Amino acid sequence: MNSFKGNSRLLICCTLAFVLSTVGWVTNDRAVAAENTVSCTDCHDDKQNTQYAHNPVAEGECTVCHEPEPVHLEEGGPGGMKTDRTASACYQCHDNMAAGSTVHPALEIEGECIQCHNPHGSSVEKLLVKPLISLCQECHEPVPAEAAAGSQHLAVTEGKGCLNCHNPHSGNQAALLNASLKTLCLGCHDQEITTWEGDEIESVKNIKEKLDLPYVHEPATEDDGCTTCHAPHGSKHQKLLTASFPGKNYYKPGTDPDEKIFELCFTCHDQAMLNKDISSTDTGFRNDTLQNGTVVRNNLHRFHVVNVVEGRSCNICHDPHGASQPHNLRSKWTMKTFEPTLLFESRPDGGECLKSCHRPKTYQRLD
Ligand code: HEC
Ligand code: HEC
Ligand code: HEC
Ligand code: HEC
Ligand code: HEC
Ligand code: HEC
Ligand code: HEC
Ligand code: HEC
Ligand code: HEC
Ligand code: HEC
Repeated sequence: MNSFKGNSRLLICCTLAFVLSTVGWVTNDRAVAAENTVSCTDCHDDKQNTQYAHNPVAEGECTVCHEPEPVHLEEGGPGGMKTDRTASACYQCHDNMAAGSTVHPALEIEGECIQCHNPHGSSVEKLLVKPLISLCQECHEPVPAEAAAGSQHLAVTEGKGCLNCHNPHSGNQAALLNASLKTLCLGCHDQEITTWEGDEIESVKNIKEKLDLPYVHEPATEDDGCTTCHAPHGSKHQKLLTASFPGKNYYKPGTDPDEKIFELCFTCHDQAMLNKDISSTDTGFRNDTLQNGTVVRNNLHRFHVVNVVEGRSCNICHDPHGASQPHNLRSKWTMKTFEPTLLFESRPDGGECLKSCHRPKTYQRLD
């Protein structure tokens, strides 16, 4: 029965092909494909019935990727069928996806394209074998497990997910990024972003605006600066930070001597700036007085950060991105309900805080 069906169909196909070729139409593979359609879909009626059918499948061009031997059509499979599973089958119609200086190594594994695409059709857009994020996570665990307790980046899961930042095939940026790092980050962080955290509105400040201020923190000027301090996918620290830094304006000085609360800053700056005994080079934020002929130094970094009952975080005075006053000093800092002003005046031998948490105060360095 099967073979009879197959034979009769083959006959029709051959006749059709003959008719078409005599009028000079059948000179390419597509016409041969069309000819085979009749038989393929009769026995394989599931291939075209997908939500998103691949164009050549919808068109019945099965033989652009499959090469049947007559026995397959006559008697049905399995066997008697060659299938091209490599990218070269796809490149008959599509541009080279492996162009560019960085190629996704997934494109160099055998069966390259069909690891991610169903060649026939799919219920997921772009013929993906499964929804995007679970597809990527089949081979990658980009979001560190400990991020659950720290911070996650909404950009990884919202909108185009991984594709907000990566090209799945190839490109000219490291790590398959869609743009150079800073441009990529500032593409979204050129405005204030508001999100809902339960019932509370959270707002994330405009970073680009800060980089246009006169005193930009040096690492934030570097092309890869953002990822020196931030992990793009998620982190065990708050604000996607790559090392510890307090999330509050005030913190109780820890009882644990190993507590590395300002680890982030001290990966580059010298922690000696917080010591009780300092030399003239440890910090400029100090008030020197002459007592009995010797210089006595009052370390104002230590005073604010360590000595006061509730320590002040660096963040109260400095902005890690950019600021309007010298030494990356902010002009205001953020509390829950208001933004106190901080007005600083730099002097060759010190400085003056004109408006801040206290009445105007000056400090002076003697050497
Ligand atoms: C007479 C029925 C029949 C026709 C016509 C037919 N097939 Fe099949 N084909 C089968 C059966 C039965 C199998 C084995 C069961 C299965 O995999 O579905 C099979 C298997 C296949 C397989 C898997 C091969 C393997 O080695 O595992 C491919 C690919 C395939 N067919 C493609 C085609 C294409 C393309 C056409 C048209 C050019 C076609 N078939 C026409 C019946 C048919
Ligand atoms: C763009 C290339 C391409 C086109 C067009 C195409 N196929 Fe396939 N097909 C493949 C590849 C590649 C595989 C092997 C998949 C694998 O190994 O995971 C395959 C596997 C199959 C199989 C066996 C596995 C399965 O999924 O059932 C059948 C049957 C099949 N194709 C039938 C068809 C039919 C019928 C058509 C036309 C309506 C068609 N194919 C068009 C590339 C294609
Ligand atoms: C016979 C030509 C042909 C071959 C061979 C071919 N494609 Fe396509 N493909 C098309 C056409 C035509 C479209 C629709 C074009 C468009 O919308 O821009 C398409 C669209 C796609 C899309 C986008 C689907 C969508 O929903 O937007 C993907 C992904 C794709 N092809 C992957 C592949 C892969 C993987 C292979 C190899 C296994 C392949 N194609 C082989 C012709 C082909
Ligand atoms: C690691 C998974 C992965 C691999 C491997 C892969 N792709 Fe894709 N491809 C994707 C994703 C994800 C998209 C959707 C892109 C988007 O929506 O911007 C896509 C989109 C496409 C499109 C549609 C482009 C468009 O602009 O609509 C084509 C065509 C395509 N891929 C072909 C291929 C070919 C050919 C290969 C093999 C050389 C391949 N892909 C390998 C994941 C992959
Ligand atoms: C079939 C497995 C597979 C899938 C699916 C897959 N990848 Fe990959 N990918 C790899 C391999 C292998 C590497 C190289 C080793 C590594 O970095 O883990 C890689 C590397 C990468 C890299 C680093 C490239 C570089 O040059 O530094 C990025 C970015 C990436 N993949 C993104 C994605 C995204 C986004 C998706 C989903 C669209 C995805 N991958 C899906 C296998 C896969
Ligand atoms: C907000 C942008 C962004 C999003 C969204 C994003 N990535 Fe990345 N990804 C990056 C950056 C930036 C790097 C390079 C990190 C570096 O150089 O330190 C990277 C690196 C990678 C790497 C290389 C290995 C590594 O961890 O450094 C892989 C693999 C990767 N990403 C996969 C993914 C996957 C999978 C998703 C989606 C679940 C995703 N990324 C979402 C920005 C992003
Ligand atoms: C596609 C848009 C998009 C891109 C690209 C993007 N972000 Fe974000 N980012 C967001 C959104 C939306 C939020 C607010 C929601 C949240 O907290 O994740 C956010 C929040 C953040 C936060 C605060 C996280 C927190 O816990 O409050 C940091 C830090 C951050 N992004 C850094 C980066 C860096 C660094 C890059 C470049 C590697 C980058 N972003 C690229 C959309 C983006
Ligand atoms: C020297 C380290 C450092 C560099 C470089 C850096 N950041 Fe930050 N970033 C921080 C710290 C610390 C915080 C948390 C304190 C704060 O919000 O000021 C933060 C907070 C953020 C936030 C959240 C702001 C909010 O209101 O919650 C975003 C978004 C952000 N950074 C993006 C970026 C981008 C984009 C770059 C690259 C242009 C970058 N960062 C470079 C240290 C850095
Ligand atoms: C990746 C290295 C790096 C990290 C991390 C870093 N900085 Fe910096 N910082 C620099 C460099 C480089 C300069 C410019 C040279 C200098 O003044 O030491 C600078 C300058 C500064 C200045 C201006 C000094 C002046 O007198 O003008 C302040 C204030 C500052 N950083 C504070 C911080 C704070 C607060 C943190 C933690 C949130 C931090 N930095 C994290 C590298 C870093
Ligand atoms: C009460 C405000 C305040 C706090 C809190 C503060 N700083 Fe400063 N910082 C200053 C002032 C003012 C200067 C400028 C000193 C000068 O005149 O040169 C400064 C200077 C600096 C410099 C330049 C080198 C130096 O020491 O003079 C660095 C680096 C720095 N601060 C880092 C930090 C770090 C890291 C923290 C948190 C551990 C922090 N600051 C906390 C006010 C503050």
